Amino acid sequence: MKGLILSGGKGTRLYPLTYTLAKQLIPVANKPVLVRVIESIRDAGVGEIGVVIAPTTGQDIQNALGDGSQWGVKLTYIMQPSPDGLAHAVKISRDFLGDDRFVMFLGDNVIQGGINRLIGDFAGSVWNSQIVLKEVENPRSYGVAKLRPDGSIERLIEKPKDPPSNLALVGIYMFDSTIWEAVDAIKPSARGELEITDAIQWLIDAGRTVYPHVHQGWWIDTGKPMDMLEANSLVLEELTPAISPEAIIENSQIDRRVTIERGARIINSTVRGPAIIGEHTVIENSYVGPFTSIYHHVTVRDCEIERSIVLEHSTVQDLPVRLQDSLIGRHAVVCRNGERPKALKMNLGDHSTLWMA
Ligand code: G1P
Repeated sequence: MKGLILSGGKGTRLYPLTYTLAKQLIPVANKPVLVRVIESIRDAGVGEIGVVIAPTTGQDIQNALGDGSQWGVKLTYIMQPSPDGLAHAVKISRDFLGDDRFVMFLGDNVIQGGINRLIGDFAGSVWNSQIVLKEVENPRSYGVAKLRPDGSIERLIEKPKDPPSNLALVGIYMFDSTIWEAVDAIKPSARGELEITDAIQWLIDAGRTVYPHVHQGWWIDTGKPMDMLEANSLVLEELTPAISPEAIIENSQIDRRVTIERGARIINSTVRGPAIIGEHTVIENSYVGPFTSIYHHVTVRDCEIERSIVLEHSTVQDLPVRLQDSLIGRHAVVCRNGERPKALKMNLGDHSTLWMA
């Protein structure tokens, strides 16, 4: 069995962060979502993984992941020259995949509990494909499945205006070599893409066996800032806390659900978990509240921050109000304007949003 990770999406709903950072590299609990995807595939026993990349962000992804040996896998990069759809990404990966069975995982999806059982079930079956479904509140944003009373799939529709159910297709799929005929047969959808949903419908119409697994745990497609914060909270809740012996903690209260990484310094502060403080980050005279991930080389001084993600090399300092539900990029500065006139001053990137208390 092989793995295929699709990591080409532009992440326009995560602007401005994704102008300069591939969305799959945004960390959740201080680990890029893409690395979480690689680890889930590896932990399910699959070591040979193709990564489909786009010309815009492909180089950054290759720089971040290298040959995969750091995670004990072998990565092969496959360039998708234009965003022509998930089924197109499968099509151009044919040389890499050959006739092997494979698991395809969208590089921005985070799922509770990993995929060991899913891979085990598929490997031990004669199914041509397995899909994963999850009940959601907004099925219009996803591919949607309508099941028959016996649990088999009646039909699949991509982003339906009038959803026949609330069962969304999770971005994790398993196929055997019958998928090749399907991706060759389908035509582009209204949005001009070759949809994987249409390819799976084609398999069903051709009488192939597609098994629908309904997932009971949580699942997040990290497309928007609020999804990122939600995924961050859920992953932090499951993280086994660890305090590095190489961290310095002085005159501070640290909750037991807190992870503190190497070289971090916590001084005169309170950190309440679940939370994670990255390598060489300084927290001083501050309160860090639950569901916060502060990445490496960040300074947080004289302020309160909660349920937020702060990326590397940023500074959050001397704030008159608590910072909450925020996603702060790299090398950003959030601080008090102590000068007169006492006005808000800002230097925001394109597509930034600022909420005032
Ligand atoms: C894609 C699929 C959709 C699926 C979703 C899961 O949507 O086309 O069927 O439900 O991923 O994340 P996209 O993210 O391309 O809008």
